[in-house]
Amino acid sequence: MENITLNNGSTCPVIGIGTFMLSPADAENSVREALKMGYSLVDTANAYVNERACGRGIVASGAKREDVFISTKLWPSEYENPNAVDETLERLGVDYVDLLYIHQPAGNWLAGYRQLEKAYRDGKAKAIGISNFEGKYIEALQTKWEIVPQFIQVEAHPYFTQVELRKTLDRYGIRLMSWYPLGHGDKSLLQEPVFAALGAKYGKTPAQIILRWHTQMGFVVIPGSRNVDHIRDNLNILDFTLTNDEMAEIARLDKGERYYHRTDEQLKQFAGWRPEFEKA
Ligand SMILES: NC(=O)c1ccc[n+]([C@@H]2O[C@H](COP(=O)([O-])OP(=O)(O)OC[C@H]3O[C@@H](n4cnc5c(N)ncnc54)[C@H](OP(=O)(O)O)[C@@H]3O)[C@@H](O)[C@H]2O)c1
Repeated sequence: MENITLNNGSTCPVIGIGTFMLSPADAENSVREALKMGYSLVDTANAYVNERACGRGIVASGAKREDVFISTKLWPSEYENPNAVDETLERLGVDYVDLLYIHQPAGNWLAGYRQLEKAYRDGKAKAIGISNFEGKYIEALQTKWEIVPQFIQVEAHPYFTQVELRKTLDRYGIRLMSWYPLGHGDKSLLQEPVFAALGAKYGKTPAQIILRWHTQMGFVVIPGSRNVDHIRDNLNILDFTLTNDEMAEIARLDKGERYYHRTDEQLKQFAGWRPEFEKA
């Protein structure tokens, strides 16, 4: 597995398994199988309501705790809960996470960010991050952070490459973790002719070409899947390198267009919604 070095000197694998919209049973299965086949990064969140299942999958895989990079996210309803970090660790069954995000710039997100900073200082989070904090939100946070985050997790794929945001990230050495790296499975993205052509050249599927593009862009990818064959394919992308011309050809697909458009109204709803956590 390739790793990247973060702005605090720690490292992170470039490929992980995503678990958004996976039921606890599917998340446990995908995490266990992914770790058994050589993954070492798992991405979950309070809001996915599958942290306990991910914890079970990690144990069932037989992987050692120190060999797994666990990434999770505090949901806005937890930002003012002083026990939010400890409760998250308890659900995962661990005494630290490798990366802890605040999930949305909703509610009292500064209180949430302060919880991350405290968790970082206490050794309960080895790295911290912000999720969905593009534009005015990262600008506001920049004037308030005491610890610069190591990561931002945002929508990114060949149709939407976060050109503007990356200028800010470069200034601080913040790494981008792509969500919807495969366009959430969108057929029109996967069926772009350029990916079929490059797939034929390298003996790879279109999804593998897209994921390799992410890693060559310097992004960490966390494709979600409940299909063991896809999970295996998504790991098997580091044995070829797209040329500069091929990267440029893929860059021409950028339409500056997201799949997911979040509104201010949704942010208000996020702040008011509480995940119904899995029972112990
Ligand atoms: N921070 C945030 O707000 C946020 C938001 C969304 C997602 N995320 C994170 O980002 C991760 C990735 O996003 P995502 O899971 O929504 O979308 P995605 O990874 O872009 O796409 C997942 C979809 O692609 C399919 N797929 C996976 N591998 C494939 C392959 N090799 N070939 C063809 N199809 C494939 C999956 O179906 P199968 O199950 O059939 O493989 C699934 O339908 C999430 O799981 C989550 O951890 C974070």
